[in-house]
Amino acid sequence: MNAAISHSLEGRPEGSHGAEQMGHLVTGGLDLSHGVALYLEDITVSFDGFRALNQLNLTIDAGELRCIIGPNGAGKTTMMDVITGKTRPDAGKAFFGQTIDLTRLTEPEIAHAGIGRKFQKPTIFERHTVFENLELAMKTDKRVWTSLFAWLSGEARDRIADTLRLIRLDKEADRPAGLLSHGQKQWLEIGMLLMQEPRLLLLDEPVAGMTDDETMRTAELFVSLAGKHSLVVVEHDMAFVEKLGGKVTVLHEGSVLAEGDLATVQNDQRVIEVYLGR
Ligand SMILES: Nc1ncnc2c1ncn2[C@@H]1O[C@H](COP(=O)(O)OP(=O)(O)OP(=O)(O)O)[C@@H](O)[C@H]1O
Ligand SMILES: [Mg+2]
Repeated sequence: MNAAISHSLEGRPEGSHGAEQMGHLVTGGLDLSHGVALYLEDITVSFDGFRALNQLNLTIDAGELRCIIGPNGAGKTTMMDVITGKTRPDAGKAFFGQTIDLTRLTEPEIAHAGIGRKFQKPTIFERHTVFENLELAMKTDKRVWTSLFAWLSGEARDRIADTLRLIRLDKEADRPAGLLSHGQKQWLEIGMLLMQEPRLLLLDEPVAGMTDDETMRTAELFVSLAGKHSLVVVEHDMAFVEKLGGKVTVLHEGSVLAEGDLATVQNDQRVIEVYLGR
């Protein structure tokens, strides 16, 4: 690794998704020929005998925007841990597209295959500018880099400019990222994910701590990303889920309790019982 990059990566919080995770080990491309981006079948994860996921089944279509809701401890984050290779399931199948068996890949290999994950706490480089953060996140072959801020191709600059507009930070490009608002930091991290060109984005409680206005702008951003990307969004904020407008999956005790549009699942008696407590 180049000295300037390794220096910059020092002090980066855990769970970072940066270019350092790019492996070169994934064989074969993503096959979306059947229109399915993610397929989980009978996934079970036990922690000391406790089933955090219990024969979980989930299918996400290519380009779909899916919300996952459910009470605390339902297994939502554990599900993302399985998809990203952080946690190995005890049983079940997990496929990215038709051919990529996620249970056989390491975390860096899964990231490289095209699954990006956003954790709740932004993991950005506070002392670098917004522009530099996006530059650092770009999928680049580091072997050909001579220095961190070496000459950028026009195409790369265009991609950064497009992403800056998309995440509404074009006016903040030259500011140190540490000076952004909480919501803007979250957007920057989403932008950093996008620079890696993921096909599937996993977002765990992305609007926690945002203002109402930032929350609604984030919903607009996610809606605009659907189609080109598949998105799986875990969120407790129902106004946000409603604004996203996609299909909703309710998890409870590690399994799917209900699935459908938000109004349908909200009127489902089993869902009401789970949320209100019996
Ligand atoms: N590493 C672990 N070891 C032991 N138990 C764990 C571990 N990770 C998660 N669990 C347990 O598994 C269950 C599911 O946790 P998970 O974090 O997936 O829930 P969640 O749906 O994301 O909840 P929340 O809405 O609070 O974020 C919980 O009971 C949790 O305590
Ligand atoms: Mg969670």
